[in-house]
Amino acid sequence: MHIKTNISLKSYNTFGIDVMAKHFVSIDTVSDLTSLIKQKHFSNKLILGGGSNMLLTKDIDALVVHINLKGKTIVSQTETSVFIKAEAGENWHEFVLWCLDKGYGGLENMSLIPGNVGTSPIQNIGAYGVELKDHFVSCEALNLNTLELETFNNSDCNFAYRNSIFKNEVKGQYIITSVVFKLSKKDHELKTNYGAIKTKLEEMMVKTPTIHDVSKAVIAIRESKLPNPKELGNSGSFFKNPVISSEAFLKLQQNFPEVPSYYVSKKEVKVPAGWLIEQAGFKGKTFGNYGVHKKQALVLVNYGGAKGEEILELSKLIQKTIYRIFNISIEAEVNIL
Ligand code: EPU
Repeated sequence: MHIKTNISLKSYNTFGIDVMAKHFVSIDTVSDLTSLIKQKHFSNKLILGGGSNMLLTKDIDALVVHINLKGKTIVSQTETSVFIKAEAGENWHEFVLWCLDKGYGGLENMSLIPGNVGTSPIQNIGAYGVELKDHFVSCEALNLNTLELETFNNSDCNFAYRNSIFKNEVKGQYIITSVVFKLSKKDHELKTNYGAIKTKLEEMMVKTPTIHDVSKAVIAIRESKLPNPKELGNSGSFFKNPVISSEAFLKLQQNFPEVPSYYVSKKEVKVPAGWLIEQAGFKGKTFGNYGVHKKQALVLVNYGGAKGEEILELSKLIQKTIYRIFNISIEAEVNIL
């Protein structure tokens, strides 16, 4: 365990924002993590996973702890299911591909999501009709007060749309060290109802899709509208899709009859923030070296050298404009630091 000083975080966040960490350490084992937390010397710590869901707006005057725990093991299996434990520092997409390669189904719709396994439960990542919670069995997390490893089962995590207990009640109190998933070994339940997946599978001329076909379709869809962070700095969806009351939705629909929507309950409607942002005229707009992605308005991008504060200001301008036009508040999905 080697603690470094004054390290640039540019390559540790997918937005590619160049800020400095006063101290930085990469952690490979749980015992190193425990001994580090015991050291009272560094009272301020920032826990870093894949850096794919954060906007860094200033230098970090703390110890940045990069969770680099690696490993995947089969915990148990039956004829039809397998339980796999993946360590927190495993790259999410590589883990999905590893599962697919072994013929395990369940995560294919979540192919190509940036980030690491350990941070996936925090915001209950999801895409194309599947969320992490659908395959999450449990996770192990280090309690930063007692230094004990604790297990959180699915129901303990209060999973909801881009939300969990780790963003609320126990925020900042635990570090997730590993996650156990339940996947299928055969008779995979494919989720291909999402419009874009159906269309892509038709284009691929696949009539009876496999888990590999679904993954390929999802990868193709994502690549067609979401920028690759290795080429263009971004943090995926910058905002959450707002959920509004059905009364508010009916009013909105009177003024904007073409507004897309999904009922999430009898009384609540989800409206795509990307649509609102596009209608407000921001899609594809650039402001110097940052802007709104031209193919998906929900994604803010850093063309190179942008400052976190600049992107934050742009996000506030978007929020204000959306509120003024539609009377809807949209909330950031990424963590602003
Ligand atoms: N839309 C527009 N203009 C845009 C973008 C979207 O009009 O620029 C409208 C279209 O009507 C489209 C609808 O929004 O049909 C939905 O768009 P899309 O299928 O791209 O999904 P999204 O709601 O914009 C969400 C997730 C994505 C996830 C996709 C697919 C959130 C905040 N985002 O986006 O997640 O990949 O669904 O499931 O829920 C992420 O979290 O980083 C992320 C990329």
